[in-house]
Amino acid sequence: MMEEAKHSEKDIAAQIIAGRTSGVAVEEKLSTSQRVLARVTDGIYRQPSSALRELIANAYDADATQVHIHTDAPRFDKIIVRDNGLGLKAEVLAHVIKNIGGSAKRTRDGIELGVTDSHDPLRSPGGRELIGKIGIGLFSVAQLTNHFQIITKVKGEKFRTVADIILHTYSEDHLAESEEKHEFQTGSVVIWSASAEDIEAQGTEIVLIDIKRSAKEILQSRELWLAVSANMQRAAEGEPPELDIEPPSYHIGGYAYTNGDHVEIPRKLPWDDSDKPSEKFHKLVDAMMNELGGRTKPQLKMVFDNYLQTVWSLSLAAPLDYIDGHPFSITGKDAMEVFLLSNETNGKAVPLLLKDSQTVSSAAGLTTENMKNSTPFAINIDGVQLCRPVKYKGLPESGHALKNPLLMIGKCYPDLSSVREEFRGGDLEFEAYLFWTPRVVPLDHAGVLIRIHEASGTLFEETFMKYQVSELTRLKQITAEIFVSKGLDGALNIDRESFNYAHPHYQIIQKWLHGALRQLATTQKRLAKQVRDHERETLVEVHKTVLQNAVEEEWVRIRGDEERPPDVQFVVKGDFGRVKGNTGLVFERERIFPAKTGAVRKTSTSAADEKKFEEQVRAVAAVLSAYGVFDEMTQEKQQELLRAIARIFAVEAA
Ligand SMILES: Nc1ncnc2c1ncn2[C@@H]1O[C@H](COP(=O)(O)OP(=O)(O)O)[C@@H](O)[C@H]1O
Ligand SMILES: [Mg+2]
Repeated sequence: MMEEAKHSEKDIAAQIIAGRTSGVAVEEKLSTSQRVLARVTDGIYRQPSSALRELIANAYDADATQVHIHTDAPRFDKIIVRDNGLGLKAEVLAHVIKNIGGSAKRTRDGIELGVTDSHDPLRSPGGRELIGKIGIGLFSVAQLTNHFQIITKVKGEKFRTVADIILHTYSEDHLAESEEKHEFQTGSVVIWSASAEDIEAQGTEIVLIDIKRSAKEILQSRELWLAVSANMQRAAEGEPPELDIEPPSYHIGGYAYTNGDHVEIPRKLPWDDSDKPSEKFHKLVDAMMNELGGRTKPQLKMVFDNYLQTVWSLSLAAPLDYIDGHPFSITGKDAMEVFLLSNETNGKAVPLLLKDSQTVSSAAGLTTENMKNSTPFAINIDGVQLCRPVKYKGLPESGHALKNPLLMIGKCYPDLSSVREEFRGGDLEFEAYLFWTPRVVPLDHAGVLIRIHEASGTLFEETFMKYQVSELTRLKQITAEIFVSKGLDGALNIDRESFNYAHPHYQIIQKWLHGALRQLATTQKRLAKQVRDHERETLVEVHKTVLQNAVEEEWVRIRGDEERPPDVQFVVKGDFGRVKGNTGLVFERERIFPAKTGAVRKTSTSAADEKKFEEQVRAVAAVLSAYGVFDEMTQEKQQELLRAIARIFAVEAA
């Protein structure tokens, strides 16, 4: 079977090459030996962005430096993804159509076909860590279309090869029939070549023809505009609108239907057509950040239509630079509070002190950034140049006690030697950050995003890998990323959007993350308390000054300004004799402020409240003395009088 497949693969490659001179096209079945893969056309991916993400991953694996995506928005009749990578040689193309679900990447076949580095099957020829491994990513386009073309050119060749592919959708009956033949046909392909002048050019263009209606409607946000139409209709009929249906702040336009007419809603984008590609993306991110002015917790779906959301999620997931730099490249100059997480069970995060020009990476000895591919990789979608839209600096302020965000850094290279080899799933190494900020923007970023090498399938996962502690408020203030440099790959499910939770690597990361969240909570609570205590102390000082001014004014009004108000002191009983005879007034602290009896003072009073109360009683004593009330009294009587007054004011209004 295996040999047979290899043979037919070789045969197809030979036919493709022969066709270049004979002009005869090669017609073939797309086939796979596995029933489950015959169903890729049923769509294991959820979003249109999943297919685009897979095509981008393929361009990355082929050492492309540029990917251009044309979506034909807002029509979406045809989508083109073009890269300047290595292209597919005849042999590779033959392998692809005969081995759906059997990637050559990370195998000896890959080395032979030149799909991988000639020594390391885990890397691309150019040295990138490969994203692909399963061999179905290309067919994720099934979600968007049943008809697509691969137009590819290898450097040095005088030909451009075109593979025109039709994907089939099968019924269970049909699959059962094919079962006997041990071969499932998932589609058919016709391959031909055209001569090319640009011999040195290389790259691959995936053309998705006749986008399916279901996919088009998603990209056009059709459901949204129908709901908006319904609302307009209600308004036209004088009924109140449904509150939660509003067009997003930015969109590519759409149609609304009222009273049988359809009204075009003009697009509203955060950029101008004349802006540079990277400028456009910055404006997109700024638009999101600026939403904070009007909404407390902006979410992607409130701010963007499906198209812009697709752009956003692609830029998050793809192997790209961060818009403001990697969080690990934050330096001492950025004046951020940075902590290093502990990997111990009951460990505590410790401050990570950075010198001005020192990066988090060097201070914590991280390697994630060094791993980054040195060759650039850029994605342009409809004229917008993507970056990871995650910001750490210059975030909007909020009313939270802690004004500055916290950055918690972690690295974990667990020693798995005690786990039996067959259960270990290989080595595991990862680095991570947890970023706390009063308001994560957009709220969809609250959660954890796991990247294996440079790629991620899922976006931020809001339960933090099922964190069980109910800290709803705080969890909405944390955005975290885990960068896995070794392992976890085996835990990734076929859709690359979910994990096998039972995999040991998944469980180790989960446990580590939960420990990190605990440390973050402890640190954040402690810092917030410090801030609040400090604020309270300041308030006590202000309160004291205001009282002193009031006393001074009263004193001057009654006594004139020849004499200063007396010093009023509260001392412990033992010291009473020592200060007696001073010019000021001296009271015994325990008598004026008896230990809390509960009946008098609320038990919950803070030290700050106690202080303020003391200052008020001090002011009363000074005012009484201005009127000469104490003049004829014995010390004992003076004590009695102030005690009684203090007692009355100590009773809190219910
Ligand atoms: N843009 C591309 N440039 C070069 N080769 C590609 C490209 N897209 C796909 N391929 C080839 O097609 C194969 C199948 O792709 P895919 O189905 O995504 O599986 P995988 O990436 O897991 O190998 C890849 O291994 C690669 O050889
Ligand atoms: Mg792939």
